[in-house]
Amino acid sequence: MTTLRITDGDVTSARAQVLVVGVARTDELKVVSGALPTSVRRAIIRDLERIGCTADSGSTWRIPAPASLAAESVLAVGTQPKPDADEVRGAAGAALRACTGVKSVVVALPTASQQALAAVCEGALLGAHLPLRISSKAPGDPVASIAVATTAPRAARSAVKRNTVADVKATSLARDLVNEPPVSLTPAAFAATAKKQCKGLPIKVTVWEPDRLLKESMGGIMGVGQGSANPPRLIHLEYAPKDVKRHLAFVGKGITFDSGGLSLKPAKAMETMKCDMAGAAAVLAATRTIAELGLPVRISAYLACAENMPSGTAQRPGDVITMRDGTTVEVLNTDAEGRLVMADALALAAESQPDVLIDVATLTGAQMIALGTHVAAVMSNDESLSGRIQDAGEQVGERFWPMPLPDALRTSLKSPVADMKNIGEQYGGMLVAGLFLEAFIPEGQAWAHLDIAGPAFNEAAPHGFTPKGGTGFAARTLIQLARTSGR
Ligand code: BES
Ligand code: MN
Ligand code: ZN
Repeated sequence: MTTLRITDGDVTSARAQVLVVGVARTDELKVVSGALPTSVRRAIIRDLERIGCTADSGSTWRIPAPASLAAESVLAVGTQPKPDADEVRGAAGAALRACTGVKSVVVALPTASQQALAAVCEGALLGAHLPLRISSKAPGDPVASIAVATTAPRAARSAVKRNTVADVKATSLARDLVNEPPVSLTPAAFAATAKKQCKGLPIKVTVWEPDRLLKESMGGIMGVGQGSANPPRLIHLEYAPKDVKRHLAFVGKGITFDSGGLSLKPAKAMETMKCDMAGAAAVLAATRTIAELGLPVRISAYLACAENMPSGTAQRPGDVITMRDGTTVEVLNTDAEGRLVMADALALAAESQPDVLIDVATLTGAQMIALGTHVAAVMSNDESLSGRIQDAGEQVGERFWPMPLPDALRTSLKSPVADMKNIGEQYGGMLVAGLFLEAFIPEGQAWAHLDIAGPAFNEAAPHGFTPKGGTGFAARTLIQLARTSGR
């Protein structure tokens, strides 16, 4: 584990292998840092000019440290001349990703406000988190110690440290779970991990195996899981501290592998489908951290876990299943499985009548078409809830954009044989999926659906504080939301 220290502004005497500063190019190169004397800045710029530093955002440039610094080398990361919190979070992340193999790093990016300080700490720790590697050779060690130099008031520092370390731990757990190969993270293994992760914390973990799922009328989870040799699980986490008024319910999509089922995906589309439990991973990670921090809010969390496989026992296009709330669904495309497991878990979660109900799912490829891989979608029946989620996300570097639930698309989910079918109009597929889920939300229940299909997993190049593979997206937003939900 990487340790974090927050230290005072002057970094000239800091002994570290690497000193991280920002660099920006306007008319000329400029060092962007909270704490460095002019002479040192000049020396750094001279050496960066010599190696052709472009200062492109997120690019990194490592040079031997000028003699006036105690550090061994300087790593300059491209940024804006006056970076905001988001920008320094990304810069710190990119810098630390470039420090793999280094033991000690001092980060001297601008941290004038408490928000910027938190962002730098968060970005640095997230950038230092090494994705899982299963290798016959010894894996490299993550950076051992990070010191963030700041001019921010002392009083703020310990809270910033506690919160960022907790948030990063949650994000790292969510990442690790996503990166785990689907052969080892089956629904049963997910349940075992959930129990292990909640051990010693004030969380009650209840796992429903298939016999209980049948008894409880969880037709969606059973239907999706019935083709797999690894049977489904519903994992319920309950954190209910005394004397709290707010009650949040979280629901996470936990498809441990999505082959598409009999509506089989093409090979290429299947390559990343171990990520289809990223919603459940974020919910588990956030819930355990909320309990660990002892936040004064009740959390009921539900992880809907199943493996979507084709086989002789798999559900068929044309089957009709009966969901938790009695709704019948004609399954026309077995690859639209997420909405089936989520519908059951949403109906179940709503039974406890939480103040707000939030679901997190890698639900549609259409989300990636609409918003790409950096921005997630939020669909809600409550504008203020949607706004609070956006705000919480913004504070922790996770972007959400509101998407509508248009009445006009609802009729496309009508089925001639059942109450609904599981696919509707092709265009606006993300919205259709949202509308399908909405049908399982009782009247008057505040609800928001987060489609994180794109941001949950970096298939292409890493960027900012996110590595290749699982990103842990949404865990920090849920924690931040719990933090800002009053007693
Ligand atoms: N798990 C996928 C969505 C997904 C795609 C997540 C890419 C992450 C990256 C989901 O179960 C799915 O297959 N959705 C289908 C729905 C369609 C059949 C209506 C899709 O989006 O193509
Ligand atoms: Mn699918
Ligand atoms: Zn899926």
